[in-house]
Order: sequence, then C-alpha cells, then structure tokens
Amino acid sequence: IKKIGVLTSGGDAPGMNAAIRAVTRSCAYYDIECIGIYRGFQGLIEGEFEVLTARSVRNVINKGGTFLKSARSQEFRTKEGRAKAFEKLQEVGIDALVVIGGDGTFTGAIHLQQEHNIPIVGIPGTIDNDINGTDYTIGYDTALNTVVDAIDKIRDTASSHDRLFLVEVMGRDAGDIALNSGIGAGAEEILIPEEDMGIDRMMESLMKSRKSGKTSSIIVVAEGEKSGKNIFELAEFIGENLTGYDIRVSVLGHMQRGGAPSCYDRVLASKLGVGAVEAILRGESGVMVGITNKIVTSVDFEVAIKGRRPLDKELRRVLNITTV
Ligand code: F6P
Repeated sequence: IKKIGVLTSGGDAPGMNAAIRAVTRSCAYYDIECIGIYRGFQGLIEGEFEVLTARSVRNVINKGGTFLKSARSQEFRTKEGRAKAFEKLQEVGIDALVVIGGDGTFTGAIHLQQEHNIPIVGIPGTIDNDINGTDYTIGYDTALNTVVDAIDKIRDTASSHDRLFLVEVMGRDAGDIALNSGIGAGAEEILIPEEDMGIDRMMESLMKSRKSGKTSSIIVVAEGEKSGKNIFELAEFIGENLTGYDIRVSVLGHMQRGGAPSCYDRVLASKLGVGAVEAILRGESGVMVGITNKIVTSVDFEVAIKGRRPLDKELRRVLNITTV
C-alpha cells in the first residue's frame, strides 16, 4: 500500500477532523502518501483531491465539522457514479480508502469495494451512535454534552415560568441521544424511535407529577419517535388534554452537530484513525474499526449497518426511578 485516500461523508460530527488527522499522521508514520478527498463520495467522483502531510493537519484536532467537508451524494448511489469514482482513484494511484461516516457511508463503501475490489476501511463518525460493532461513534459524546448544556438552559427558564417544555433532539432511528441526554439533564419523559411509549402513559405520568408538586417539566423527544405526532402536535395534544400547563416547544436542530469535540471524542477519533490505517496494512478490507470495551476491533461493514445494539433497558429503569 503506497497511497491511502481519506474522506468524510454523510452528516458531519465533532471529532471528524481529529480522525482525519490521525489517519494522515498514521500514513506519515508508516511512510504512506495520504490523499484528502473533499466533499465525500461526490468529491471522489469529481476528483477533488489534495495531498495531506503531517503538517496539513496541524490545529484541527480541536475543530468541529470536517475540513474535508461532507456531502450526501446521489450520484454515488448509482453503479455509473461509483465507476467514475473508481476511475479517479486509479488516475491518482490511490490503493486503499478510509471512509469516515455512518451507515449511508458504509453502504456506499460496500458497493464500491465489491464492484471494484479496492480495500476500504470505515470509521464510525455520526452523532447518532446508531452503528453496530462499536460502543461509541465519533461525535456522540460531544453531541450529548451540547444537548445537556442546552437543556440546562431551558430548565432555567422553564422553572422561572412554571412551564412544560418539549425539547426535540436528533435521532431519526436511534434514541441514544434522547435517552442519555434526557437522563443527564433530568428530563421527566423521554420519547424515542425504538419504542412507542404510548401517549396515554405519558399523560398519566404528567398528571401524576403535577399532583406530586412538580411545577415545571422537560420532555425530551427524539425526532423519529413513534407516537405518530410531530412535536408541535404533541404539545397541542397535551395542552388540550391537561389543564394548567403552559407549554413551549424547543427544537435544538443542527447546533447538536457543531462545536469543539469533547476530549473523549478526540481520543476515540485518534485511536480509530490509527486503527483504520493499521487495519489496511494488515490486509483488512470491507470492515469498520470500532471500539468495544476500550479495545479497537474490526467488524464487517454488513454487521456495522445491520440491526442495532439493543436499547439499554437499564436506562429506562433508571429514568422511571429518578423521575418519581
Ligand atoms: O445522521 C445524523 C443526523 O444528524 C441525524 O440525527 C439527523 O436526523 C440527520 O442527520 C439530519 O440530516 P441533515 O443534515 O441532512 O438535515
């Protein structure tokens, strides 16, 4: 292996820069040329390449976003698009690829690898933490801290005005952000995509907490939760069926994806960046490097994108007890 290309794809996540840095510096360490590919798979198709040296990645470990930029490429979803991408790789002599992203990124990588037989190793970078075969994805810890910080601020004003707040957090298919930030921020109720908690149960619990003397409350709602109502409809429903509540909605949105990565995410990204290059050097391909019980391990892309880690039932139990 003489030349490794690195790209970031899909939704960005804090810590992606730290991962690119670790990949670049591992290449320098092992005497391999590193090529940065801009704008994910779209940039690959268009040949947006730049040589990265150990010094190109100075002062990026602390930066949010991804300096290589990211994209969700429609063209790469086609066979023709992937053939163009492979041509570009051959033109510059890239022997292997490191792709940093989530399930969409790994799905694209599976196709490219199978159709053109190029070694590819993935690094899980998404705030959602919805990838199998790793305990944590890069960006998740930072996003949790961002959300907790935002909810703490909402709590101040909720409490001053005796209000009920519904706070929407990211997670189309995964409730990890909602469940963990909700517990960390002391939320009353948490609605997640993995299970339909039942509106009736939530209403009952709100009535109970009112009676027990609570004057303000926070409900954390994951964007993909399963009640069949969006957050504004939920707020309306609660308002119509429970008297005495002054209700507000706050949608946190993309601020959850920004900001300086936490120390945890920087260290995780550094470990996985080194792990990805070393996996390529060992001859691995079609795998994602992840972290399991603090150890860097590889799993097939198919395993990484298939299914979900079971939801942590203990968290649900803890929530029930601590919101009494
Ligand atoms: O996958 C990461 C994520 O932030 C999801 O939580 C969210 O649903 C989605 O990306 C938003 O995507 P976009 O940036 O395309 O609006």
